Amino acid sequence: MGLAATTSEITASKKAPDFLGAVATLRALTATGLDGVNQEILACMQSPVAMIPDLAGHLINAGGKRIRPMLTIAAARLFDYDGDHHVKLAAAVELIHGATLLHDDVVDASALRRGAQTANIIWGNKESVLVGDFIFSRAFELMVAAKDLRVLQVLSRASGVIAEGEVLQLTTQKNIAATIDMYLAVVEAKTAALFAAATQSGALIAGCTPAEEDALRGYGRNLGIAYQLIDDALDYDGFESDLGKSIGDDFREGKMTLPLVYAVARAKPSEKPFWRRVISDSCQKDGDLEKACVLMERDDAIADTITCARRYAAHALNDLSKAPENEFSAALADLVETSVSRAF
Ligand code: IPE
Ligand code: IPE
Ligand code: MG
Ligand code: MG
Repeated sequence: MGLAATTSEITASKKAPDFLGAVATLRALTATGLDGVNQEILACMQSPVAMIPDLAGHLINAGGKRIRPMLTIAAARLFDYDGDHHVKLAAAVELIHGATLLHDDVVDASALRRGAQTANIIWGNKESVLVGDFIFSRAFELMVAAKDLRVLQVLSRASGVIAEGEVLQLTTQKNIAATIDMYLAVVEAKTAALFAAATQSGALIAGCTPAEEDALRGYGRNLGIAYQLIDDALDYDGFESDLGKSIGDDFREGKMTLPLVYAVARAKPSEKPFWRRVISDSCQKDGDLEKACVLMERDDAIADTITCARRYAAHALNDLSKAPENEFSAALADLVETSVSRAF
């Protein structure tokens, strides 16, 4: 293709990546930093109390996509950062995520995570909560070691907001009058706060301008919302084998995620008793999840959840347009564009 190629030629020749392709590109771009992240995480899990490395290692070694630490590294490298403090921050971000998952699987009574049995099933709820606390405290040690009070504030605040989001979600559970705004407040806190802190802290450590800091924070926030929206659609519409976690947990727990908020709002009067029984009264029997999925399909509850995710993805791209253009911003753009059609 010559230099005078038209936009349509460029578009036609550019192979559109899927979500896993976008994650793989980002992983390749951040590979050196990610190696450091894995070393930091392994070191953090060590303890003379054997159950701690056993239980933590079970979650960490099961993998996970490592999206959040890649975001921190990419955000720092986007601004040409050539130090090594971003590795500690990225490891802290992944540890906060890991601790949150241990607690979340207890709260959600989940049995499958990252394709393996959850720690709460193998070791128990008490064990998961306490090792989660241990991992949180290790994350704080790492943040302090990065020696930047601004990023310490960003990440420590995010940890508190995640907990608020999880508690807020408990208070809306089984409430079939829950609104879109209530749902979005939960998502903003429990998921978007850490995505936003991941990108903001990477940009900050690299010495970006205040406007660039806002842009990267906005990108992370909007990506995080879109990501959770798709996750909530996949809890009804995805495959356990793709996700490595159980489908239908949200329905069983009566979580008022957006597919359910839409479905209940659009139900015919004769269907309201069904939703009251299965969600408000937690009285579920075989076939209820399948029936809920049929109603969601009929009323576009999943399709409109995905449409909503696309709106946040578009906001994220707009935020990113205010940052420098380079291979890191291109990979971040691909990540958000493909995340709205992910199955994984
Ligand atoms: C799971 O996050 C929790 C949500 C916010 C939906 P990820 O999808 O990033 O999980 P891992 O780390 O790859 O397992
Ligand atoms: C993920 O929330 C955990 C947090 C963001 C705190 P969910 O409960 O919705 O996600 P999964 O489905 O367990 O990963
Ligand atoms: Mg959960
Ligand atoms: Mg949860």
